[in-house]
Amino acid sequence: VFVGVNAYNNSLAFVNPFTSRNNNINIFGVSGSGKSVTAKILMNRLYMRGIQIIVIDPEGEYVNIAKALGGEVISFSRENGINPFYVSSLQENDILDHISTLKTFFKFFIPTNHFDSAVLDEALIKLYDQGSPTFENLLELLKDHPMQKDLSVLSTGSLRGVFNSTRKLELTNDIIVLDLHDLKKDEKRDPAMYLLTSLIWNLVNKKNNKQRMLFIDEAHKLLVDPEVAVFYRELVKQARKRNVGVVSITQDVEDFLDSEYGKAIITNSETKILLKQSYATLGDIGTIYPMTDEEKQQLGHLAIGEVVLFRENEHVRINILVLPFEQPLVFTS
Ligand SMILES: Nc1ncnc2c1ncn2[C@@H]1O[C@H](COP(=O)(O)OP(=O)(O)OP(=O)(O)O)[C@@H](O)[C@H]1O
Ligand SMILES: [Mg+2]
Repeated sequence: VFVGVNAYNNSLAFVNPFTSRNNNINIFGVSGSGKSVTAKILMNRLYMRGIQIIVIDPEGEYVNIAKALGGEVISFSRENGINPFYVSSLQENDILDHISTLKTFFKFFIPTNHFDSAVLDEALIKLYDQGSPTFENLLELLKDHPMQKDLSVLSTGSLRGVFNSTRKLELTNDIIVLDLHDLKKDEKRDPAMYLLTSLIWNLVNKKNNKQRMLFIDEAHKLLVDPEVAVFYRELVKQARKRNVGVVSITQDVEDFLDSEYGKAIITNSETKILLKQSYATLGDIGTIYPMTDEEKQQLGHLAIGEVVLFRENEHVRINILVLPFEQPLVFTS
């Protein structure tokens, strides 16, 4: 797809994110540098090429473009939640995988001194054996354990509705935006980001005939918890086998550079789009992107919409070009 104009020789710059090594992209830059705009034009141009677009959208920035392109916006709030227990297959392996996703998800709500992996495991296995996995039944199975009270916040407490709805996630539309901006606090958003990314991954694993791009904005949030970070790294590493590309978008580049998982995600992303960087990241960035000191300095001075694109050994400075007909799609939030 077309991305913009080469800043050195004015030639047009294109990328094909679907490569032989992997289809993953990083879009990294400080706040206001143009990450979301870059993501939106890629989203539109990849969609035009028949690639399914799925966006994890913590701030609701991609809602307008999705609506304008006839996509589906799935918003999350207490009135509009999701059923975390839903598994699309009854195969034992799929259920066991799902149970491990649920354990990591529930861990967000259980203080460490209450968390008992074995007890939770047993309860979840019983729950699925009994055939009607609901919160009420899970809490019944956890009776007398402190985890029961911790998890009741999800069913009858302040988070009721968000994660105990009957709605299930499906990937039918060619553009799907999962809008989390109604979940105002991180304590709700972070687990929701993990749960939704896992549910998408499970669905993609079922039907992987289609080419897909999964955009994750504020991706650094998936690095905070080590178990979630492992999941995220595996997702990025295995995506190509499922015909998926993962687009990781973040302003907290240091979180990636400081984390062994974050670094693995960068090295497993063939297309790296760097926008303006903060001085704090410039010190470390050379450890993972091969570049000269002069190039490093440039990264601190890029204007809005200017990027350095790294692919294999090639680095090109590009001005990301929003085409006139794309402006109403892209310059809204
Ligand atoms: N390629 C571009 N051409 C022209 N204007 C741009 C371009 N990219 C960004 N802008 C302008 O800069 C503004 C901020 O861009 P954007 O929202 O993409 O930043 P961001 O990096 O996602 O910021 P944040 O980290 O706060 O989400 C846009 O609303 C737009 O006006
Ligand atoms: Mg943004």
